[in-house]
Amino acid sequence: MRPSVLVIFFSAMLCLSSALAAQSKPPTTKSKPPAAQAKSTVVDAEGHQWWQHAVFYEIYPRSFADSNNDGIGDLPGISSKLDYLKWLGVDAIWITPCYPSPQVDFGYDVSDYENIDPMYGTLSDFDQLESDAQEHGIHIIMDLVVNHTSDQHKWFIDSRSSRTSKHRDWYIWHDGKGPGQPPNNWISVFGGSSWQFDPRTNQYYYHRYYPQQPDLNWRNPAVKDAMFDVSRWWYDRGVAGFRLDAVDTLFEDPELRDNPVLPGTNVYGDPNEENKYTLNLPELHDVLKGLRKIADKYDAVLIGETWTRNLDQLNRYYGQNGDELQMPMDFLFTKVNKLSPSEFRNQIAAVNSASGWPVYVIGNHDIERSYTRYGDSKHNDAIAKVIAGLYLTLRGTPILYYGEEIGIEQNDPQFKKDVKDPIGKLGWPNEKGRDGERTPMQWDDTLNAGFSRTRPWLPVSGNYRTHNVLSEQKDSNSILLFYQQLLSLRHTNEALLDGDYVALNEDDANVMSYLRRYKDKAVLVVLNMSAEPQKAGFNLAPQGFSASAATTLLTTMPELQSSANLSQMTLAPFTVYIGELTRAATQARAENR
Ligand code: GLC
Ligand code: CA
Repeated sequence: MRPSVLVIFFSAMLCLSSALAAQSKPPTTKSKPPAAQAKSTVVDAEGHQWWQHAVFYEIYPRSFADSNNDGIGDLPGISSKLDYLKWLGVDAIWITPCYPSPQVDFGYDVSDYENIDPMYGTLSDFDQLESDAQEHGIHIIMDLVVNHTSDQHKWFIDSRSSRTSKHRDWYIWHDGKGPGQPPNNWISVFGGSSWQFDPRTNQYYYHRYYPQQPDLNWRNPAVKDAMFDVSRWWYDRGVAGFRLDAVDTLFEDPELRDNPVLPGTNVYGDPNEENKYTLNLPELHDVLKGLRKIADKYDAVLIGETWTRNLDQLNRYYGQNGDELQMPMDFLFTKVNKLSPSEFRNQIAAVNSASGWPVYVIGNHDIERSYTRYGDSKHNDAIAKVIAGLYLTLRGTPILYYGEEIGIEQNDPQFKKDVKDPIGKLGWPNEKGRDGERTPMQWDDTLNAGFSRTRPWLPVSGNYRTHNVLSEQKDSNSILLFYQQLLSLRHTNEALLDGDYVALNEDDANVMSYLRRYKDKAVLVVLNMSAEPQKAGFNLAPQGFSASAATTLLTTMPELQSSANLSQMTLAPFTVYIGELTRAATQARAENR
């Protein structure tokens, strides 16, 4: 999805008329879950916890590795790539939904929360993955779709069966305003009215996303209990946390007041709306507190898909007493769509002043690939390294999106007939959907990039012959080896793990630079974000470092391989310099006096 469309995508709404055929799948056998593993909480002198030192990696299971050659990735495929992930420096994988699902929204329409979709494997495959991952020291994070279920979930099947069914009040049902008129003007993020009329009971149900994704009624305590139990069920199976899907959409106005209408229309032709009564209602924070209490019993982490508009909203997600999400994602970072030091500085300053640990986002399965988004078509590889140089040296926990580390490029469908993501069919050509950022992982330069021996469910990106794991592992200048070296540095360097962030040369429009400072050590990061050579000079005495040169840790400039003169650095276009500074003992003593 194009960034310009993102805003509209996540704040607008409508009704998909062409309902996709929903097929329910035979369940795999359930076995008794193994007991939860106790994990140690605090990992360093700063009181940081495991997830604050961890590097997360998002896996879109359909597209990662296909073990049985049916064109769709699967859990045994993920297991087979754990050595690679460990080598790269990944500590936790977030697997997007792999539960049984009719796949209308490719897994985000869940029809059974306590099982695995047969196309991805079985619960035993999951247990195998869990134990293999544990051996590799890699945590598993599941994706919990809390706002809605599939219309094929047994709760909804019962709910729609009659007005008096046991689960009727598990979803949001309402009479229309009049014949053929939905209860109010709320529109769906995926197009059309967010109310779907159900002739069986002559009422409408609410769906923020596709009509096949009815919203749960979180005002009903039974819904809360059932979902909380789901989280316990997976913790007992060994998962280390959840990425909570669309948490800002959990509640709607009980009075069903109309949203204020804004000028213009969205990509689907619906009137723009302010989501006053459909987004970010305060009640959702009680749910997050409840989920967190359970998570704490398991030393687990909660990551949130939190589309916040400002710092206040972001702060609220950490909880007033730090008792909600440990890792609410900062999506404002994804709105910086150009290599702009000043915009990045503003974003970082804002998130750093928030009350919790930063979680910046640069890419995921809903956002155009960062390689293409920031690329200028000429220096894409160098730019990918600049983005890595920024993202992986900031204070906070990074979440890589699979393939970012090799430079997979966006591969939008060229024709409407090729589109798989339903919003791309509905919104074509303004909205091409999210297929472009979900293409198969590129493992080598053979047919289908080594992802599968069959034609994959989405075509492989055009650059797979040059940009793939095997080729890049052999090329010392590759994006992949840069990521690998940077991640290895990040795991061992105290200033990168624990140091504060100090912006430097804030007036420089082309070169972004900062210190990560910890006790007597600091890491200096200098990024030339422009296509021209640039000069930069640093006086770090005010920060407590009087040395005239930095010792190089990692750089894309061969001439600075061992050290860099701080008074004047010459930086080639789109380059990264990362160096270390240590305070001389005498200097430290003098300052302490
Ligand atoms: C989240 C997911 C997105 C999905 C939507 C509805 O935004 O990231 O992929 O379509 O929720 O579940
Ligand atoms: Ca498969």
